Amino acid sequence: MGAARASSFWRQHSCIAVLVALILQLARGQGSALQTYPVDWSVVPLNPPTSRNLTASCNCDLLNVGCSYGCCCDSKCPAALTKLFQSDGICLPSGTAQQTLKYCVSDGFVYKVNLPASSDFYVQPVEQADNAKFLSQLLCIVSDKNPNVGDTYPDPPSGNAGDNAKLAQCPAAVSPPSTPVQYSFQSVVQAYAAGSSAKQPLTVPYPAFSSVCNDQFVVGYLMPTPTGSRDYYVTCERNLKTLNLSVACNGSGILTPHFYSDLHILTGQGSSSVAPVTVVRVQYLDPVTGALSKASSTTSKYNSTSGLCSNIVRYLNMTLYYTYADPYGFIDEVELTLVLTDILVSNSPLLQSVRVSWIDSSQATTVQFVSSGHPGYITGLPVLAGTEVTNTSGAVAIQRLVSGMPVPTPGPNGLCNATSFETVKYGVNFTSSCSVSLTKLELKDFCINQVSQPEKYLRLAMPTLLPSMESGSLYLGEWGNADFSNINDWVQVSLSGVPFNQTVPIYSEADMACSGLVVGFDLQIVTGVAFSSNNLQQKVLYAKLCFTTGVWDIPDKASETTPNRFFLKFNVSFIRLPQQAVSVKKPAPPLVVPLPADVFYPFVVSDSAVGASRLCILLVILAAAAVSLTLQHFCY
Ligand SMILES: *[C@@H]1O[C@H](CO)[C@@H](O)[C@H](O)[C@H]1NC(C)=O
Ligand SMILES: *[C@@H]1O[C@H](CO)[C@@H](O)[C@H](O)[C@H]1NC(C)=O
Ligand SMILES: *[C@@H]1O[C@H](CO)[C@@H](O)[C@H](O)[C@H]1NC(C)=O
Ligand SMILES: *[C@@H]1O[C@H](CO)[C@@H](O)[C@H](O)[C@H]1NC(C)=O
Ligand SMILES: *[C@@H]1O[C@H](CO)[C@@H](O)[C@H](O)[C@H]1NC(C)=O
Ligand SMILES: *[C@@H]1O[C@H](CO)[C@@H](O)[C@H](O)[C@H]1NC(C)=O
Ligand SMILES: *[C@@H]1O[C@H](CO)[C@@H](O)[C@H](O)[C@H]1NC(C)=O
Ligand SMILES: *[C@@H]1O[C@H](CO)[C@@H](O)[C@H](O)[C@H]1NC(C)=O
Ligand SMILES: *[C@@H]1O[C@H](CO)[C@@H](O)[C@H](O)[C@H]1NC(C)=O
Ligand SMILES: *[C@@H]1O[C@H](CO)[C@@H](O)[C@H](O)[C@H]1NC(C)=O
Repeated sequence: MGAARASSFWRQHSCIAVLVALILQLARGQGSALQTYPVDWSVVPLNPPTSRNLTASCNCDLLNVGCSYGCCCDSKCPAALTKLFQSDGICLPSGTAQQTLKYCVSDGFVYKVNLPASSDFYVQPVEQADNAKFLSQLLCIVSDKNPNVGDTYPDPPSGNAGDNAKLAQCPAAVSPPSTPVQYSFQSVVQAYAAGSSAKQPLTVPYPAFSSVCNDQFVVGYLMPTPTGSRDYYVTCERNLKTLNLSVACNGSGILTPHFYSDLHILTGQGSSSVAPVTVVRVQYLDPVTGALSKASSTTSKYNSTSGLCSNIVRYLNMTLYYTYADPYGFIDEVELTLVLTDILVSNSPLLQSVRVSWIDSSQATTVQFVSSGHPGYITGLPVLAGTEVTNTSGAVAIQRLVSGMPVPTPGPNGLCNATSFETVKYGVNFTSSCSVSLTKLELKDFCINQVSQPEKYLRLAMPTLLPSMESGSLYLGEWGNADFSNINDWVQVSLSGVPFNQTVPIYSEADMACSGLVVGFDLQIVTGVAFSSNNLQQKVLYAKLCFTTGVWDIPDKASETTPNRFFLKFNVSFIRLPQQAVSVKKPAPPLVVPLPADVFYPFVVSDSAVGASRLCILLVILAAAAVSLTLQHFCY
């Protein structure tokens, strides 16, 4: 395959991948554990600022560290990369450009301009006219009145005359392209698999064409996954029943962390050196409680008796550091953070979530966050959420949840599961429900003997989230790029309906119903807009979480031991604050500079001549006004 064909294949491939990813996002809820970004206390000020500069506008710049793929106004993208995005025509919408005012002369010549009401103008002189050119530039020829009889062409000679032969040249013979040592944009990243010496493309699990993990999805140089940075991870499903788990779940099989940590990724496509792989962090996700803890082991095992695959990859976060000088570059090093979990074969499919990001090696390596706007929210992107944390010296920060504000969604078999959440998206009303399976006896026992915890099943569905809600430490980001180190960028989620023990469940034998249970919540988010009307920024103003109580009825004919489904329900709605635009006008500059008292020296203003001199001053003012209006008329 020629280089040109390869690159066009890549373009189509990445396009399809984006489409498929978007379709998948729309098609189903995604299970996700509540991962958080680490808090870097060294950047948390004790007294963070309370106001925010809304002037900056590059809406697609959603990463604090590193270049946002396809964002042509992102100042963190190396110029060479921005040029590539532009030449490939993949520039993302960047928002309304700053309004500018164009002068045809140096702005020193312009005395006064009537602007439409707005607070944000830059002055941009297009052409600097010197005094001599000033008048000639004010006057220009638009059309002349010479008679025109239409265009004619003289008859060109035929045969080998003039430029005829020169215009029909055979193309130069092309020599076959040699493989460069380095990578070029989108070229396939090459690696040696663990314990292998055969060069092969680097692949990651990816839901190409369906929700099933496709192991043929190759990583392209400087191509992030998910493309378009809409979600932190992209998730796919693995049917464990089609895998030979004594291989896949053992040693450095395809589900194991060693499959990635033992990779030897080549620094260039024709290079023989490998980039060092550092495993930064490995966490263990408890499949039952949803709790994340430091992994005690990274060795995967398969127990064929119980059908349990342990310590296998649930989340893969691969960060590749690169140096790029148009048109080629290298991979310098690779960082991995992993979340491992256990799964029973009978609970197949296994969800696997992947992120591949690219960071310029020359940029400072701090934690990379994904924003949902710059600065205001973009509709449809995750609502930022996190919990308030305080360190010993009294500094306050927000420990941001990686996927934003979570709401429980159905896990395996539609049951509520502590590891299954969907993210609240800005401006999108959303309802979800998951079920709890109980027999008549279990419900009765709960309703009569466990009256102190009417929220028991809600707690089982969100064991790590509910405590932070109860303690009031759950916050939502006011802006799409709310800063974790500034608590003033965040709004606390207000609660109604707690403490739960104010209502107790009551069992009614006659109706076979349990009432007074906490069966879900209703999250109401009030939003508003700010900034100039040509570049509105959306923000979260207030959030209220109302716990709802309800009744769980047992169907009349159910036997004591048949499981019945009862539902927890969750609502999220966005309410727009009614707002009126205010008209902002810049104060007009004084029309005439105040004149010094002795301006008419040597003519003296006598008492009797006061009337006359007033008239004189008035005339001067009128003349000045006329001149300024004339200039304005010509120049604006
Ligand atoms: C607490 O935060 C401050 C920054 O506000 C930092 O200088 C200090 O080292 C932090 N202390 C600890 C124990 O992390
Ligand atoms: C706000 O940001 C803009 C663009 O980055 C900058 O030009 C301006 O000076 C900033 N204003 C303040 C008050 O910091
Ligand atoms: C799985 O792989 C192992 C080792 O290669 C082999 O011994 C075993 O027969 C395979 N099992 C199945 C079901 O294919
Ligand atoms: C796992 O791999 C080791 C060698 O790496 C092998 O000895 C062992 O039998 C394998 N376990 C299973 C369950 O196949
Ligand atoms: C959640 O699902 C996992 C399988 O994905 C299962 O092992 C676990 O028991 C479930 N947790 C609950 C609380 O049902
Ligand atoms: C495999 O699981 C069975 C049943 O849970 C257990 O008895 C056995 O000890 C396990 N084997 C290993 C090697 O852990
Ligand atoms: C992903 O990896 C990068 C680089 O190692 C790290 O900064 C980031 O915090 C990781 N993300 C998560 C969710 O662990
Ligand atoms: C509810 O719980 C709080 C704290 O857990 C306790 O102080 C209070 O007495 C309880 N109220 C009832 C009615 O049980
Ligand atoms: C969720 O919203 C729907 C429609 O707005 C409403 O009928 C339902 O009662 C709400 N449920 C809860 C738990 O608030
Ligand atoms: C979301 O729900 C609120 C309250 O029910 C309603 O006012 C609003 O119009 C809804 N928004 C959308 C986009 O449907």
